[in-house]
Amino acid sequence: MSVEFLRNLWYFALPARALRKKQLVHKLMLGEPILLGRTEAGDAFALRDLCPHRGVPLTAGRILDGTVECAYHGWRFKPSGQCAFIPSLVGEEGVEPSKIRVRSYPLIERNGLIWVYMAQDPASGAAPTSEIPTLPIGADAKPRLIEAQMFPCEIDHAVMGLMDPAHGPFVHKVWWWRSAKSIHAKAKKYAPIPRGFTMVSHKPSSNSFLYKLLGGDVTTEISFELPSVRVEHIRAGIHEVVGLTTCTPITDDETEVTQTFFWTMNWVAPFKPIVRHIARTFLGQDRTMVTIQAQGLKFDPRLMLIQDADVPAMWYHRLKKEWTTSQREARDFVNPVPETTLRWRS
Ligand code: FES
Ligand SMILES: [Fe+2]
Repeated sequence: MSVEFLRNLWYFALPARALRKKQLVHKLMLGEPILLGRTEAGDAFALRDLCPHRGVPLTAGRILDGTVECAYHGWRFKPSGQCAFIPSLVGEEGVEPSKIRVRSYPLIERNGLIWVYMAQDPASGAAPTSEIPTLPIGADAKPRLIEAQMFPCEIDHAVMGLMDPAHGPFVHKVWWWRSAKSIHAKAKKYAPIPRGFTMVSHKPSSNSFLYKLLGGDVTTEISFELPSVRVEHIRAGIHEVVGLTTCTPITDDETEVTQTFFWTMNWVAPFKPIVRHIARTFLGQDRTMVTIQAQGLKFDPRLMLIQDADVPAMWYHRLKKEWTTSQREARDFVNPVPETTLRWRS
């Protein structure tokens, strides 16, 4: 069974700082080999990581004068994908390098993050029809912390884990957070946003020790947007924390989950190793769970989604379906998520 990935959307590719000048990085995204590169001038770009000549990964080559030079026969490609030079030509062959192209992918670098647009028909070269997610941060805010882990599961199980409120007390059982004993009834208001939904701004559970540490009057707002972006916006007095979680499908059964944190409190700097440890622990707990889950999914069991704790997961499937249909029919996307209150115990 092969997975159908959502197209015409932007996926998180890399932290900007993981791509230095003159560097070429290979990455699989949605099963496609992608080259992420940065010119001497500092411009980032994305190409299909296959030389159109003989299929050699272009990342085996190097950046030279603003182009990518293939390692095999030295063909050179501009960041636009157009071939700029073929060293073997004497000029009389009637071969026009500029007519040769390697597929290029639209790329946006913003707030220290690199996003790549995965079109329905990447060969067409058509302009993107959607935007990268808007984050509730300033134009020049940079990530304070990025933690990525590879989950051995298909994209849907990674995404459903992000929005699943009922696993917290079981999977994230650590003394300083909460335990199964702290379970209590909750009611949360939800509203649609352009390509997803948001758990409207609320006071977090008083049992969250971590929130207490932030002090002040704490409110959080958690949103989800297609294809696989979760944004948690915490406000505490004058301070703000924004946690971005993205799931990028690597192959059918591997998904990279990346957590990126922005915060305004400079006093956190010396505690960064602790924050990293916490982020790594949390993500690792989710990763361990989907690894165990994979053992069961091998048998292709029927799965259940129940009211109300699994309603966000139901919405995710409806959003996906509507996105695919609206793209196929070339019409506007109509958000199927209602404004409502969900109740569960966690
Ligand atoms: S394979 Fe790339 S130049 Fe020949
Ligand atoms: Fe989790």
